[in-house]
Amino acid sequence: MENIEILTRSAKETKKLGEKLAHEIDRSPTSIKRGAIIISLEGELGSGKTTFTQGFAKGLGIKENPRSPTFVIMRIYSVRRKAYGVRQFIHIDAYRLKSKGFKVLNWRDFIRDPKNIILVEWGDKIKNILPKNAMRIIFKHIRHHEHRLIKIII
Ligand SMILES: Nc1ncnc2c1ncn2[C@@H]1O[C@H](COP(=O)(O)OP(=O)(O)OP(=O)(O)O)[C@@H](O)[C@H]1O
Ligand SMILES: [Mg+2]
Repeated sequence: MENIEILTRSAKETKKLGEKLAHEIDRSPTSIKRGAIIISLEGELGSGKTTFTQGFAKGLGIKENPRSPTFVIMRIYSVRRKAYGVRQFIHIDAYRLKSKGFKVLNWRDFIRDPKNIILVEWGDKIKNILPKNAMRIIFKHIRHHEHRLIKIII
């Protein structure tokens, strides 16, 4: 397991980080065998999970700006730039969920499909149904109100 810690000093920097990570997504044949790319975004309210997701979506070439899907649980965007064969970007907000309450038809197929990239805000709330090897990104407020400490656990 590898950890990387990054300090961002503004929402813009957090977005940029999301964008950069989207560009670095590994869709090599070995990675594809493991199924969808799943990233659990964790950390307190207002710590930057949605902001990061917006940058990530931009990095995938998605024109719409993801909003927090709190009231709809999940939004699916199609990835037009077919880099690495990715087709769908799926944004989930698990804030109000428990693993047992999370019933998405064919969820197993979703997480098996290498053409999917799935970002789950509050992924720790439904960790029982996420693959054990999912990437985790943990967001923390620190000192200055516009600073965030972002820890990437791969
Ligand atoms: N360095 C920073 N990184 C990210 N957001 C920042 C930063 N500095 C200030 N902000 C502001 O903090 C807020 C972060 O909100 P955001 O919706 O991204 O958080 P969240 O973790 O998704 O919250 P929630 O748990 O409610 O879904 C935004 O208003 C953003 O502009
Ligand atoms: Mg959010």
